[in-house]
Amino acid sequence: MDFKDYITVIEDYPEKGIRFKDITTLMQNGPVYRQAIDNMIEFADKHDVDVIVGPEARGFVVGCPVAYAMEKAFVPIRKEGKLPRETITEDYGLEYGEASLSIHTDAIKPGQRVLITDDLLATGGTVKATVQLVEKLGGVVAGLAFFIELSYLDARNNKELNDYNVYSLVTFD
Ligand code: PRP
Repeated sequence: MDFKDYITVIEDYPEKGIRFKDITTLMQNGPVYRQAIDNMIEFADKHDVDVIVGPEARGFVVGCPVAYAMEKAFVPIRKEGKLPRETITEDYGLEYGEASLSIHTDAIKPGQRVLITDDLLATGGTVKATVQLVEKLGGVVAGLAFFIELSYLDARNNKELNDYNVYSLVTFD
């Protein structure tokens, strides 16, 4: 199956010059969405994963069904100020803009093997901040799994990411 056929590219959204990759058209097709999640699970199974972690909001639509199907915990990473209990926070840069991400300090136990999921690997800023949060809590990042990778930004070969196992369903050059 070519998952690319189900992703819609929108020119100049949300800003001029950005070619937005819309996964909602993939999710609108139940069997295709399920196959995408099954591919993530196949990757996770190779890396002996204990916990699934995903940044809001689209990291949830990838990570939660993976966690459900694997009967593993799901840990949300949220924009600063959204989680109600004790957190740690990392600042990060986006393809467009800047923000901070937080995780509950009791969400990962030292030594747990973590799969980080998201819809998109673009500059890698979001996943780098997520890796930092997981590792600060003593988690071991077992893999990074995305629906889409923007290969022209080459984030997977960035010095902060090139030691990790990276999987993506679709690449855009
Ligand atoms: C988007 C996307 C990824 C991130 C990828 O999220 O869902 O999380 O950007 O870009 P990067 O690799 O350059 O960091 P966004 O921050 O727009 O949040 P949303 O999912 O809540 O819309």
